[in-house]
Amino acid sequence: MNPLTGKKIILGVTGCIAAYKSCLLVRELVKNGADVRVVLTPSASEFVSPLTLSTLSRNKVIQGIFPAQKGPVVEADPWHIEYGLWADLMVIAPASINTVAKMAMGFADNALTTLVTARRSPLLVCPAADVDMYEYPLTQRNLKLLEDQGAYILEAESGELASGLTGKGRLPATGKIVEAIKLILYTGSTQKDLAGRKVLVTAGPTYEDIDPVRYLGNRSSGKMGFEIAKAAWLRGADVTLVAGPSSLALYPEITRMNVRTADQMKKAVEENLTEDTILIMAAAVADFTPSAPGEKKIKKAETAPVIELRFTDDILFSLKERPKKLAVGFALETDNEEQKAVDKMHRKNLDMIILNSLNDTGSGFEYDTNLVTMIERSGEKVKTGLLTKTEIAHKILDKIVTKI
Ligand code: CTP
Repeated sequence: MNPLTGKKIILGVTGCIAAYKSCLLVRELVKNGADVRVVLTPSASEFVSPLTLSTLSRNKVIQGIFPAQKGPVVEADPWHIEYGLWADLMVIAPASINTVAKMAMGFADNALTTLVTARRSPLLVCPAADVDMYEYPLTQRNLKLLEDQGAYILEAESGELASGLTGKGRLPATGKIVEAIKLILYTGSTQKDLAGRKVLVTAGPTYEDIDPVRYLGNRSSGKMGFEIAKAAWLRGADVTLVAGPSSLALYPEITRMNVRTADQMKKAVEENLTEDTILIMAAAVADFTPSAPGEKKIKKAETAPVIELRFTDDILFSLKERPKKLAVGFALETDNEEQKAVDKMHRKNLDMIILNSLNDTGSGFEYDTNLVTMIERSGEKVKTGLLTKTEIAHKILDKIVTKI
């Protein structure tokens, strides 16, 4: 089931050019089954139409604290108390630096800031501004204050800004905001439980060259490893992803090292592994590689060529004595699965092994879903249901958090 289905979300929109992106966010949340109510600051409606947001959210939009009636009869409408009790989560996207400052100081001078003080739900703040406004020391201090008060801050991204300047200040992509929302709803917390941790993930296949044109590869899409890297970043970790050939996208804050072969992957992992690293080897590393790849394209001859192979180094095995915080491996098995996975965990000196079985429908290569068994050194085993790879990533990280 989608974690957004039936969830009650208040979206606060403030006056900044990224306000137009709030329409896409509302659309995405509604498509995922959430009930969305929008609250605007007075300047937000200079950038985006309340009617657009009302149409997309299929709910009324609040843009003032006071009732509209000006005649002899006035009826009180303490909507902010009702909204504050109703919501599972309040999201401010985009949050202008003015609203960030007001929220940090506890102001309640418009509908949005009033609701921030009246809510009982967690708060997700997605700031956006031009680079100098974003990096203004008081803005940074206010964001820190909000975080210290328990808000989840989804930092702005670097890139080209509406002004034409380049720097930090862009509202994160809609998909990333949605993932942060799902994370907070899933954990029921705004705490970044991997803050200050170093996570090194490998993902994807490796390609072992036969000649300049052909290669030996495997069917891994890389999705599981990419989802782990993104989930770990959202949970506050400093993440490096060593990726075999894959066209999947990543958050810009994650350091990505693209490699092609098993040998290159081994080198990249070795270079990045320190004693405080949590290593998660989700890559499907080739076990064999051509011993002598052709320098020129192998031409068709009378007899088919015989390609001689050599073993590649087993990356995890070669690092089994290297100090590290934690090592997690994956095992893909087709028979006698659990025993083989446990043997692998011990042979490679891992703290945990994630067993994928090709016998389970909907799991493994090319699927967006997966079903795994997490096996720990203590012998504890947990089999997940069939979940999205993002959800599996969080389940694995939940286990890791209990071990560090
Ligand atoms: N792995 C590795 N280096 C390799 C091959 C695999 O570090 N050269 C890692 C994988 O990333 C995974 C774990 O070892 O985390 C198990 O990989 P898997 O392919 O299931 O097992 P192998 O050790 O290669 O054994 P086999 O193919 O015989 O099952």
